[in-house]
Amino acid sequence: MTDGQERVRPSGVWATAVGVARVRARESEREDALFRDPLAQAFATAGDPGASSPPPPADEAARRRRLGVAFSVVVRTRFLDDLLRQACASGIRQVVLLGAGMDSRAFRMDWPGGTRLFEVDTAAPLDFKASVLRQERAVARCERIAVAVDLREDWPGALAAAGHDPAAPTVWIAEGLLIYLPEDAVELLLARIGARSAAGSRLGLTLGSRGVIERFGADAAPGSAASLWVSEMPDDPVAWLAGHGWEAAAHTLRERAAAYGRPAGTPPQHDEGPGGLISAVRR
Ligand SMILES: C[S@@+](CC[C@H](N)C(=O)[O-])C[C@H]1O[C@@H](n2cnc3c(N)ncnc32)[C@H](O)[C@@H]1O
Repeated sequence: MTDGQERVRPSGVWATAVGVARVRARESEREDALFRDPLAQAFATAGDPGASSPPPPADEAARRRRLGVAFSVVVRTRFLDDLLRQACASGIRQVVLLGAGMDSRAFRMDWPGGTRLFEVDTAAPLDFKASVLRQERAVARCERIAVAVDLREDWPGALAAAGHDPAAPTVWIAEGLLIYLPEDAVELLLARIGARSAAGSRLGLTLGSRGVIERFGADAAPGSAASLWVSEMPDDPVAWLAGHGWEAAAHTLRERAAAYGRPAGTPPQHDEGPGGLISAVRR
């Protein structure tokens, strides 16, 4: 199944990337899907062979939390798909996915000729991903470059060595990532992104909403995604990003979901998961 090699099993923080793929696989089956991710099921199955779905939630509160996380993944995926399309329409041809996990946009979206897409994550998830992509004979629809590096280390050096050109505008995506990084690491990440962002660059971020760690993490199962969350959005994310040189707009899941024809319901059928959706332009 994996070119005769043992496939590395998901563990620690990158196991969350397989959970995200599971959510995207389920969304892709819906008639009114907000996106279609044909590779998501293969990632989910490879990460959890033999199990078609995660164990049932322990109680109603856990069920509502799980639905809340799934809802946030679906809405943010569509939000960032749209942001990437807008970035391409503005002429950007460099894409960097930070903490790319099982993101399959290189394979499932239409990219203008000449687009280079860098996927940055640690080696284990990228190796796992590569073995699933080989198994599925997946063909990227742009130039795709995997960059195996820890984002707490010299990732700018690794990205530059992989061919990223800081003089040309870039669209950066940090999706489901910052919530796993302590605040000082988030600040450093933003400073490093800014230093490599030519005028006209764009940025798409997802942030944990205020209080989400308390609401979701307090009695989260050990090893679950929520048990690993450590940071939430600042009180004023637009001002925070202005301080980093970005003209940003902040959106809520609720507002975006309603715009996509997928309202959260009144009352919502799930707890409100993470969080803030940010789009930004470098001036
Ligand atoms: C919840 S997943 C999201 C994956 C992807 N962005 C998506 O939305 O499909 C978080 C990802 O961030 C990556 N990540 C977390 N901390 C990291 C670090 N210090 N260096 C590199 N990658 C990291 C994990 O390996 C994992 O793939």
